[in-house]
Amino acid sequence: MDQRFNPYTPGAGKRPPALVGRDSELTAGQVVVDRTARGRSATAPIFHGLRGVGKTVLLKALHAQAESAGWLTVEIEGKQEAAEQHRTKQRLARGLVAAARRTAGRRSSLSESWRRALETLSSFSVAAGASGVELSLDVDPSRGRGDTGDPELDLEELVHDVVPALRESGTGFGVFVDEIQDLDPATLSALISVQHRAAQNDWPFHLYGAGLPNVPARLAEVRSYAERFHFVQVGALSTTDARAAFADPAAEEGVRYERAALDRLVEVSGGYPYFVQVFGDQAWRLATGPDVINLRDAEVAIAEATAVLDDSLFHSRWNRATPAQKTLMRAMAEDAGRSQIADLVTRLGKRKPSDLSVTRDGLIKKGLIYAPDRGLLQFTVPHMDEYIRRQPES
Ligand SMILES: Nc1ncnc2c1ncn2[C@@H]1O[C@H](COP(=O)(O)OP(=O)(O)OP(=O)(O)O)[C@@H](O)[C@H]1O
Ligand SMILES: [Mg+2]
Repeated sequence: MDQRFNPYTPGAGKRPPALVGRDSELTAGQVVVDRTARGRSATAPIFHGLRGVGKTVLLKALHAQAESAGWLTVEIEGKQEAAEQHRTKQRLARGLVAAARRTAGRRSSLSESWRRALETLSSFSVAAGASGVELSLDVDPSRGRGDTGDPELDLEELVHDVVPALRESGTGFGVFVDEIQDLDPATLSALISVQHRAAQNDWPFHLYGAGLPNVPARLAEVRSYAERFHFVQVGALSTTDARAAFADPAAEEGVRYERAALDRLVEVSGGYPYFVQVFGDQAWRLATGPDVINLRDAEVAIAEATAVLDDSLFHSRWNRATPAQKTLMRAMAEDAGRSQIADLVTRLGKRKPSDLSVTRDGLIKKGLIYAPDRGLLQFTVPHMDEYIRRQPES
């Protein structure tokens, strides 16, 4: 079919043509913005779920809501590599400078509270080493605060000094953190503690997050009052929504699915948004007719999409694992869904659960598996078990 009109968006964080099945999350996001405009308290969501369910897309959609309400916003992403982790504060500072520029640019003159906010923003940024980016507004960073070098104190001073300006304009300060489970502990802890302080004082500061299913546990580990967060689990689409996710964007282009083709695609995708996009994309590419996707097209597309998924999703993750980690994952792949650690111990001829701890912890750190509950393990990537069963023993 004509590739120019292919509506599917297989790719991390790419906004899909139809953001189906997420109305309640979007409404809740708008409520945070609207309550903030009225000077009321609100709690921003922290999304968690398996790989490819659409967390980043949701986080971006909520970011857009805040932006269009004129909020001061900054977006950062947690990184696994230690070298990248060291730069978190710089990245945060750079984002803040850009945000401050946008915010200040909308104003013809700066009120006293905005001037104060920008002074601290810029001294925070200078101290964080966001070199090469200057606020280049008529403010003096040496008068600002937030430059002691203690991440928690600096962030708190920053938020404290920005709040009056935000209140004045009925806006908020949103920090949007993707892959929050990988954020360096110092920054994460500082953000959580400031969020906590903000909740106590009704400051319009909001920490939005997205990450893997271990996020609630990870946040609780870093700060004990993380239970005050509003955790929102993001999952696969319902069958009805998955049908819409395939069919609606095609219909917009005057293309329809044969019923059997749609049934089959919905079934193999399991309703996982990333899979929906990859399967839809291949069905579109490989369909032979001009305006109908039939069962044969769907079958060919499924074979091709499986190869695409191997390359884009599975191979690199599998290859990142050490031999011991691969052995444990192979044992897990024998289960459909969750694995009991007790079963894995037997299967691998070990004596006790702690014999698997190092390997298990390594895989959790790499974001390949998580513990859905005590004594259980599960893959973070949907269908990873099927992929592993297809891999030859080496
Ligand atoms: N509600 C939805 N309906 C249809 N497709 C969607 C939906 N949400 C996201 N997608 C598509 O799913 C794919 C994955 O989205 P996204 O990158 O946001 O997932 P994620 O949960 O952040 O994944 P990861 O854990 O790998 O970061 C993208 O191709 C996106 O276009
Ligand atoms: Mg993501």
